[in-house]
Amino acid sequence: MKVRNAPPHAGSMLESLRGLGYAPETALADLVDNSIAARAGEVSIRLDWAGAASRVLILDDGEGMDDQALEAGMRLGARDPRAERAAHDLGRFGLGLKTASFSQARRLTVASRRKGGPVVALRWDLDLIGAEAGAEWPLFEGPAPGSEPLLEPLERMESGTLVLWENLDRIVTRGFSADDLLHLADRLEEHLAMVFHRLLEGPRPALRLLLNGRAVKPWDPFLTGHPGKALESPEYRILHAAGVTAQAHVLPHRDMLGPAEHDRAAGPGGWIQHEGFHVYRNRRLLLAGGWLGLGEGGRPWPRDEAHRLARIRLDIPNDADAEWKINVLKSAASPPVRLRAQLHRLASETRETARRVFAWRGRLSPASGGGGPQALTELWQVRRSPRGASYRIARDHDLLASILDRAGPLKPDLLALLRLIEETVPVQRVWLDVAEAREAPVTGFAEAPDSEIREALASLFEALVTYRGLSPAEARERLGRTPPFDRRPDLVAALAARDSG
Ligand SMILES: Nc1ncnc2c1ncn2[C@@H]1O[C@H](COP(=O)(O)OP(=O)(O)O)[C@@H](O)[C@H]1O
Ligand SMILES: [Mg+2]
Repeated sequence: MKVRNAPPHAGSMLESLRGLGYAPETALADLVDNSIAARAGEVSIRLDWAGAASRVLILDDGEGMDDQALEAGMRLGARDPRAERAAHDLGRFGLGLKTASFSQARRLTVASRRKGGPVVALRWDLDLIGAEAGAEWPLFEGPAPGSEPLLEPLERMESGTLVLWENLDRIVTRGFSADDLLHLADRLEEHLAMVFHRLLEGPRPALRLLLNGRAVKPWDPFLTGHPGKALESPEYRILHAAGVTAQAHVLPHRDMLGPAEHDRAAGPGGWIQHEGFHVYRNRRLLLAGGWLGLGEGGRPWPRDEAHRLARIRLDIPNDADAEWKINVLKSAASPPVRLRAQLHRLASETRETARRVFAWRGRLSPASGGGGPQALTELWQVRRSPRGASYRIARDHDLLASILDRAGPLKPDLLALLRLIEETVPVQRVWLDVAEAREAPVTGFAEAPDSEIREALASLFEALVTYRGLSPAEARERLGRTPPFDRRPDLVAALAARDSG
């Protein structure tokens, strides 16, 4: 058999690897992964503006590398993706350092030191590929002439690694200004705050992350512990998969959040982008939303307005990469077939709760929504049939029932009016307004003065006590659990004052 050895052409190979699809923020997150894998406690990122000579530096206080490890790490395909990894390792393909760096910069210098060892440095320079007669893949020793001072911080450390990006041709493009670099820093901060939030959280965070000298504060997609949340489930173990756990969250309706709080809760990509599964490996966020291809009737669920409050935390172990089809960019994952039914069930339930909170503006107290024993029957009821949904006014709603009882000869007219209202609900109109404005219309007394809410409450209270035979205390209890009054316990309590006074 005749065999030819066909190594890639270094220049074209490296140029094509630049186009993997990294953005600056995903590229930097990949480098932070390496620092974490090297057990760094602090990672400091600097974006230095100097026009065309601008540069990015990432310094960590991890274990560092000696000369041999550094050379191995600088190679493309440094490690076999099939090899077993330490449980805390966030790498996989042995490519990240190089591909992430080349996606933004033409020159990559890595300097490192192990405890007790010297600082060693190696450098790739895409502009010098093909220029060295003796080496097709030339890896230069030391920093580029003139860049030596940039490595100084490492001299003062026991161990650690410094990654230096220069010739940032993909960042500093024509017309790029110092201002643009500041914007990039903002975007980067948001991204890192999200991706590493679980490592940055808590009284004793596993990681300190600095961006231009300022500590990055974690962003929690789940508003953990927020009292306005409709759902914060216990942590579930997913069966038939070692180490996979899930926790379902439904975030508060916007009425339960202040405007600034609401904006912040949306996240860097916005509400719709971040709805669905948030997949973590070693507490590092891989996927910040989406329904993993799960859906109904062969069609995957889209991310849409109605389910935007649903966020599910999913933790997977790092030995399951192949099974979950983690890609090189760490931006896509797909669950193994045998777990899909379980995840589908969890997602369906979470989506349903999220939809109801979105539609009914506010928290679903345990008894509300379904019209349980503690809450009043909801005035509007949805009836589903194969031909579609229709909207009905509940004739046994307490206020309505008491009015019908007292209506006398007007009762048939009242019933006719109710039918007319039900048949002319401007569903299409509402749907369009919601879709276009990307917001729920104003309902639930959201913009009404207190006096109006008080009037409505008083009529209901009267109906419950006088015509339904509830004790004042029972009536208050039920009103306090009934949307939209459940958000105004102060006014419900004021009913009590009037009643006793
Ligand atoms: N900040 C760092 N500190 C210590 N070692 C590092 C660092 N960055 C990279 N390395 C070494 O270089 C190797 C290659 O890194 P990389 O190309 O990102 O691939 P991977 O992370 O998939 O192993 C790593 O496996 C690690 O041994
Ligand atoms: Mg890596």
